[in-house]
Amino acid sequence: MSRPTAYVSTPIYYVNGKPHIGHCYTTLVCDVWARFMRRAGRDVFFLTGTDEHGAKVEKAATEHRMTPQAWADQNAAEFRRVLGMLDLTNDDFIRTTEPRHTRQVQTFVRRLLEKDAVYVGEFEGWYDQGQEEYYTETKAKDCNHVSPISGRPLVRMTERNYYFRLSAFQKPLEDLFASHPDFVRPEARRNEVLGRLREGLQDVPMSRTNFAWGIPMPDDAEHVIYVWIDALFNYITALGLGEPDGAVAGARAKYWPAQYHVIGKEILWFHAVIWPAMLLALDLPLPECVYAHSYWVMGGQKMSKSLGNIIDLEEIEHYLSIYGLDAWRYYMTTQGPLGVTDSTLSPERFHEVYTTDLVNTVGNCASRVTAMINKYFGGTLPADAAGDLHDHDWPAITRDAVATATEAMAAFDLAGAMDAAVGIVRRVDGFIHATEPFKLAKDPAQMETVGAILYRSLEAVRIASVLLEPTMPGRMASLGASLGIEPSPDATLDTLTAWGGLTPGATIEKTMLFPRIDAPETAGA
Ligand code: MSP
Repeated sequence: MSRPTAYVSTPIYYVNGKPHIGHCYTTLVCDVWARFMRRAGRDVFFLTGTDEHGAKVEKAATEHRMTPQAWADQNAAEFRRVLGMLDLTNDDFIRTTEPRHTRQVQTFVRRLLEKDAVYVGEFEGWYDQGQEEYYTETKAKDCNHVSPISGRPLVRMTERNYYFRLSAFQKPLEDLFASHPDFVRPEARRNEVLGRLREGLQDVPMSRTNFAWGIPMPDDAEHVIYVWIDALFNYITALGLGEPDGAVAGARAKYWPAQYHVIGKEILWFHAVIWPAMLLALDLPLPECVYAHSYWVMGGQKMSKSLGNIIDLEEIEHYLSIYGLDAWRYYMTTQGPLGVTDSTLSPERFHEVYTTDLVNTVGNCASRVTAMINKYFGGTLPADAAGDLHDHDWPAITRDAVATATEAMAAFDLAGAMDAAVGIVRRVDGFIHATEPFKLAKDPAQMETVGAILYRSLEAVRIASVLLEPTMPGRMASLGASLGIEPSPDATLDTLTAWGGLTPGATIEKTMLFPRIDAPETAGA
């Protein structure tokens, strides 16, 4: 039986800059989702890559005395480095300069021309020759038709351009938003798009003539395809949807449409309006959801080169060297800006979350339970022989938490899913606190009850670890190893979270998942 598919994508990142926390974040949350869905039994396709065309790349390359391709190669390699650094499990990495992409983009644009969704039009406006840019009528008037930069008069120019007939999709897009309220999430973002949509759609230029670094328009090499149009197509060229029938298309076509295009909020318009209009024009199915997250900010401001407040790979590596990769992944997943508010990262906050959730909760509970099994049962897992214990119906508690986490993941609420998992551990702490196995163990007649308490506690921790695994694959694998289990990659969530997975008699080692770490020195201390 074929498994249901699940396709998740990140934006493809511009190679005119270096990767930083923002890029890493989007790819990481997609990775957590992809890992969870694989466990849930879905046939997952997780895509990321780099956006390599456009005037900015051409310019940056020239400034660095490199060819645009060499510049793109060099920076794409940096984006690839992130994948290994953060243990990301993408299924493909698409680069827009690859022939598989460029030839399919031309095929799609040719189809759009044939369908009359793209036409050649004339554009007339005031042009600043020094800046190579058009001014709006208002801006031209404001500066008396003289360039404020060069002091030279603006010239009236006419340009022949290709346009995408976006205006024709006003009604279909309104219908889409009405019939699929979840097409854009979170809801506040959807409302932004709806607001702009109500202002009315205009056709958009989709080619450029003033530089060369791009995919040529089919049969008109003077024009290159506008970088955004080129880039959006990556989501389907990676699947081979534009290849001639029978080629690569066959194997990956099943993944379309995507469940989630995960993006940052600044590129919502392209994904929520232009992209679906292009797909509608091509008679292709639409993605299920464009999920636009907010930003990582520093000191209340968006990170930028000029402010020098960018959290780059070097700084991320610094965190990794102190706290380990899984702690980083956990912080990103639970504290990140998936909702409508921006998030901040500070050494103090990171330390606090690490200590509270990972050291004091997950790590402490696992080490306490495994230590008691070693102390009272010589490291051999006791049987669950007692009846009801302190009103804790563990099979039901864990089943509910798994259901909550699964629902949250399906809705891309990653923090909610992790909270359901850590919630199990908190319940175990409460259970131990209430049943006091360490006191009961003083009485040899109570050892059966002690054994049952510890079996149930460890089994619940094990189930929590299955839910935590997509976020913290490394530490959860080592927890599994100390319990003598190594789930096969194909084992599904249902099987792994079924109560009773641990076998009495198994050898249990004491665990130490998250070492306590000294608080960072506060600034100025
Ligand atoms: N190349 C386009 C996307 C084309 S997709 C068809 C692009 N690239 S980008 O390199 O600028 O990357 C933008 C993406 O990086 C954002 O959408 C977001 O996913 C991520 N982030 C960049 N800065 C960010 C923060 N400060 N915080 C969180 N994520 C942000 O736009």
